[in-house]
Amino acid sequence: MPLVSLRQVLDEAAKGKYGIGAFNVNNMEQIQAIMEAARETQSPVVVQASRGARSYSQDNYLFHLMIAATELNPEIPIVMHQDHGNSFETCQSAIKLGFTSVMMDGSLKEDGKTPTTFEENVEVTRRVVEYAHERGISVEGEIGVLGGVEDGHGAGGSGLEHLTDPDQAVEFAMRTGVDALAVAIGTSHGAYKFSKKPDGSVLKMDLLIAIHHRLPNTHLVMHGSSSVPQNLQDIVNKYGGHLKQTWGVPVEEIQLGIKNGVRKINVDTDSRLAITGAIRKLLAESPEKFDPRDYLKPAREAMKKIVVQRMREFGQATHSGDYEAIPLSEMAKRYASEMIAK
Ligand code: 13P
Repeated sequence: MPLVSLRQVLDEAAKGKYGIGAFNVNNMEQIQAIMEAARETQSPVVVQASRGARSYSQDNYLFHLMIAATELNPEIPIVMHQDHGNSFETCQSAIKLGFTSVMMDGSLKEDGKTPTTFEENVEVTRRVVEYAHERGISVEGEIGVLGGVEDGHGAGGSGLEHLTDPDQAVEFAMRTGVDALAVAIGTSHGAYKFSKKPDGSVLKMDLLIAIHHRLPNTHLVMHGSSSVPQNLQDIVNKYGGHLKQTWGVPVEEIQLGIKNGVRKINVDTDSRLAITGAIRKLLAESPEKFDPRDYLKPAREAMKKIVVQRMREFGQATHSGDYEAIPLSEMAKRYASEMIAK
């Protein structure tokens, strides 16, 4: 099937009461790892690329790899999503390239660092929604500001500085018409999220639940949702890495989120750790090897393993065959006739 819209995949996930992992990619091996995991678990999936990923891989390479993914997996619904678009132009260029979903992160200015005002965020997000929906493309917005920095994008900090205000979330969703809403509940991008296993003082699941109660029909998005498993940290460190001890978002908290309106769960760091651990191990144990395939194959396998696990834990496994793709032209008509609820 062709690439599908995020809105369709998340509407289906809401019906089935499960979550969808959105996995970041920069290269062929990561796309292959995700697609092999999706095939093995029969999962619909979101593949996402940040601005940094688009410039690293170059748009055309990336896009054609995604087309290859659809050709080789015609039975799997695949969304191609722009992660953290920083401007109308970034989102527009993604849509022109063929992405079926964009995130307009209007919580930060175009520099990707400085928080915006609420009105600035509404303004730029609404503009992207108008442009995208005319073409049947989905839009994710963000209200509140996440912590940490990812690929040069982010305000930094712990994630507690700019938590989402539930009243603002309601107003933002109404005024912008976004298909999915990223909320700031104490998570942050990268490996260093929490200095001990997080409790309610740093990971605000109560806030997420309050937002869901106010916006029961809005698909919520959890960013910074790698769990940073201890075993992956240990492998990296055993074979020469120097990661400081750290804690991510426990899977049970994500599952609590899924029971409370979270439909899209962003994961990047766990894949990076799995890949790096596998490469370090192979090269440490077989220093005579120099064919990149010797370390990229176990790296791809290690990423696939963690993605399979997450697909099962998030509940998307077994759901790839539940529905046919709605063409983007049909999505555009539905937005125009307001058949798709805001
Ligand atoms: P992690 O760094 O926790 O994997 O988060 C990734 C993310 O939120 C991408 O937008």
